Amino acid sequence: MAVGALPTNKDSAANLPEPGKGVRFIAHPMKIFILAPMAGCTDLPFRLLCKEYGADLCYSEMIDSHALVAQKPDCLELLRTNAAEQPVIMQLYGSDPETMGKAAAILSEHPVAGIDINMGCPMEKIVQTGAGAALMKNPRLAEKIITAVCKNSAKPVTVKIRAGWNQHLITAPKIARIAEGAGAQAIAIHARTLSDGFTGPIDHLVIEQTMANVSIPVFANGDITSHEQGQALLKKLGCAGVMIGRAALGAPWIFSEAVNQQPSMAYRIKALLRHLELAETHLGPQPGLSKIRNHAWKYFRGTSTGPAIRRQIDATNTYPELRTYIHTLATQLLQA
Ligand SMILES: Cc1cc2nc3c(=O)[nH]c(=O)nc-3n(C[C@H](O)[C@H](O)[C@H](O)COP(=O)(O)O)c2cc1C
Repeated sequence: MAVGALPTNKDSAANLPEPGKGVRFIAHPMKIFILAPMAGCTDLPFRLLCKEYGADLCYSEMIDSHALVAQKPDCLELLRTNAAEQPVIMQLYGSDPETMGKAAAILSEHPVAGIDINMGCPMEKIVQTGAGAALMKNPRLAEKIITAVCKNSAKPVTVKIRAGWNQHLITAPKIARIAEGAGAQAIAIHARTLSDGFTGPIDHLVIEQTMANVSIPVFANGDITSHEQGQALLKKLGCAGVMIGRAALGAPWIFSEAVNQQPSMAYRIKALLRHLELAETHLGPQPGLSKIRNHAWKYFRGTSTGPAIRRQIDATNTYPELRTYIHTLATQLLQA
């Protein structure tokens, strides 16, 4: 699917929504590979890297609607974007419709292709406030939030949901229908309930039921571990896209059909060095060490030397130390 078929800022600006209705995604059906939103991980450098490897669409880390409305500096940092990464969808979370609407209005002024609403986060501190996955058992509030976001956004609105609250309360098809009625233009479904957390098999049936209940694009998410598996899921379910989270960390090549999914050490190091380069360009010469270390060791997951490399990475105390170590690895490899 050509990325260009997704809404650009120009398209979005030209297609201002009617009150209560979001802007339409331009091309449907589509078959796209999407980078999932991951707090602490899917910042601008990582999104750009995934895009370079072929991701059709990337989601930002989740953004606190209250913090955005209050213009908190840490939160504004998350809005960092550029033309090269388009189309990007930025994700909001919150449980107050008015604040979510205000946050959507602010975000909508930014060069983003769309705004997503988080209805899947299982973190207790978020669920307790009624936000994230708590909305899977509160359809009335979910509807109010989606309506408020759509009304205040000049960009398409998407909603990321879970299968439901638990196995006794599977609500995805119903919530998806409500979302469509309130103006959402696409649904991403992590096909596990809040109680399932992040493990166990993905519920293909609930994805199919959700797709059957709406006419907007549905993106399937959960435990896709290779490009091939993503293709197979697209084919099996006939969904509009597949969304990949954890398996993309340390392996942005998952978005490329052409790359061997178990690449050589040289290939891994090259990808990591590009990641460091993007981080330095967009976050400054000394990007946050713990965040970068957390990305870096994952490039060696599943290799025989991976555990030893991880120990060395964890032992670095500064960003320059980490970078020097990765360059040393590259040199050693060339000499071997
Ligand atoms: C570290 C981490 C952070 C995440 N942060 C978010 C987030 O900010 N918003 C969201 O909707 N989902 C978030 N998720 C969930 C993922 O988007 C995705 O739904 C989940 O990991 C399942 O997909 P996967 O099996 O491909 O990883 C996060 C997951 C992880 C592992």
